Amino acid sequence: MEELKKIAGVTAAQYVKDGMTVGLVTGSTAYYYVEEIGRRVQEEGLKEVGVTTSNRTTAQAESLGIPLKSVDEIDRIYVTVDGADEVDPEFNGIKGGGGALLMEKIVATPTKEYIWVVDESKVVKHLGAFKLPVEVVQYGAERLWRVFAEKGYKPALRKQDGQRFVTDMGNFNIDLDLVKIDNPIAFASMLDTTVGVVEHGLLNGMVNKVIVAGKDGVTVLEA
Ligand code: A5P
Repeated sequence: MEELKKIAGVTAAQYVKDGMTVGLVTGSTAYYYVEEIGRRVQEEGLKEVGVTTSNRTTAQAESLGIPLKSVDEIDRIYVTVDGADEVDPEFNGIKGGGGALLMEKIVATPTKEYIWVVDESKVVKHLGAFKLPVEVVQYGAERLWRVFAEKGYKPALRKQDGQRFVTDMGNFNIDLDLVKIDNPIAFASMLDTTVGVVEHGLLNGMVNKVIVAGKDGVTVLEA
């Protein structure tokens, strides 16, 4: 699995050309993409400006000598290569397993070419087997948990090392165990209008390409 992630991440880095502003994202697959960009900056003199989606990725990019800007300082991002947790045949997907979905969505929005790198296990018929992350403000998070529980979404307030998980943006995360999301568009719009929800991990139709690494090699799916 780790080898597949590496192949996917390194393949994805080929879409990055000299002089681009690129999104540098979070996750174990994206890790290899960021490493490869760092290698090219150091060994090939690639001139990149990175926009990161988590404190973790900022630290990684800085250690590799990749120049960074904040999303507030740029008008557009040419390429963002991101991991994902699930993707369906309509190019709807779930992200946020690593807890960075809010920053990831903010960086994805001004991106021209938004690419996901996944291993083949993440390409699914229906979304929902992966628990859907929902970023919520801390105030009222337990009440929101009860609202989700009453609706049968089997929510869990995420924990890390025994403590409640706090995102880089200072919010909590509620993971919904939905098993199967029949209509991702309708579900996203319900969450969009739920007070207390900051963002959710449904990214419907946002991605342009999905690079899938499997036992038989790499496949590129075009939206
Ligand atoms: C981070 O919040 C996530 O959106 C990740 O990009 C996603 O969970 C995929 O991560 P892995 O590549 O580690 O599976």
